Amino acid sequence: MSKLKPNKDILDLVNNFTYGEDLGFGKTMAPVMIEMKYKDGKWSSPEYLPYGPLSIDPAAKVLHYAQEIFEGMKAYKNDKGEVYIFRPEANAKRFNLSAIRMAMPEVPEEDFLDTVKSFSSLMAKHVPVGVNKSLYLRPFMIATEPTLGVKASSEYSYYLIGCLVERYFSRPSVKVMVELDNCRAAPGGIGYAKTGGNYGASLAAYKKTQDHKCDQTLWLDALNKKYVEELSGMNFFAVIGNDLVTPELTDTILAGITRDAILKVAQRFNLTPVEKKLEITTLLDSISSGECKEAFACGTASVLTPIESLEYKDKTYKLSIPDGDKSKQIKDYILGIQRGLEKDPHNWAVKVN
Ligand SMILES: Cc1ncc(COP(=O)(O)O)c(C=O)c1O
Repeated sequence: MSKLKPNKDILDLVNNFTYGEDLGFGKTMAPVMIEMKYKDGKWSSPEYLPYGPLSIDPAAKVLHYAQEIFEGMKAYKNDKGEVYIFRPEANAKRFNLSAIRMAMPEVPEEDFLDTVKSFSSLMAKHVPVGVNKSLYLRPFMIATEPTLGVKASSEYSYYLIGCLVERYFSRPSVKVMVELDNCRAAPGGIGYAKTGGNYGASLAAYKKTQDHKCDQTLWLDALNKKYVEELSGMNFFAVIGNDLVTPELTDTILAGITRDAILKVAQRFNLTPVEKKLEITTLLDSISSGECKEAFACGTASVLTPIESLEYKDKTYKLSIPDGDKSKQIKDYILGIQRGLEKDPHNWAVKVN
């Protein structure tokens, strides 16, 4: 039984919600949101509110010490009108892993799941249908104690907001620049947590990436700048011979849920899943020799996106299958499961309406 009971005002907002043709990504916001507050060691019950600005004390710790975490998920609708979310338990677990790293209280898994299921179900009629379209869900938690001083907050707010989205990238494949000056995450740091600081740390390199006429930044390990880690908001895979290779997880890489799903289905596509330390020079040599023909980025936002080229020390290495072959097949299969259209042996898709 859900703890969330939308009242008439909330139902009216949802029923009267309209939006334009051009959804874009992250800007066509749902008209309602969910809030839950933490005080005196306890979470309140979740509640629906109209979507709108938050009132926050200027001394709130989140604004000074970046004590905040978030998640990203999608609800997909198929032609039959069924709406599914993908592996929400995995997001609930990762949210709490991030909470522990950031010295924040865990959100009871059942409450996290209640909020994402209730919200997707309430918004079901507005979820756009189409391969690249969905309702993007953004659960997040912020530290609200209104005091300066570097220590963990005693008060927090959890919110769930959502937006109708279409394609994340404007082009079907991306050009990647390997970053050699900045680093995104260091051992012992917060790289494996989904917290704002990691994304803030990536933005200067993203500017440089754009100056280099590339679309995405690829990060190497902070200490040696030798091993491939991940992109700023996606994990990395390369098809090398019959191996589907991805960097092994460390505390500097976010454990992507799409990444995990791809590793689990690789064998269906005659690929051997391999998680290992991947040296950038070995990868580039295998692109030059033709042993590596395709590479891709993966994550909730774009599922799988083929990589067209990698730029490293001002030299460009082009993939010979720039628009993806295996990656297309894997993407179609996973999207099929996400939209409730494929057999789902792992029970990953959860129907909400
Ligand atoms: C840094 C980073 N790596 C990887 C991913 C991919 O994770 P997932 O597949 O769970 O969306 C994301 C997106 O959430 C991310 O922000």
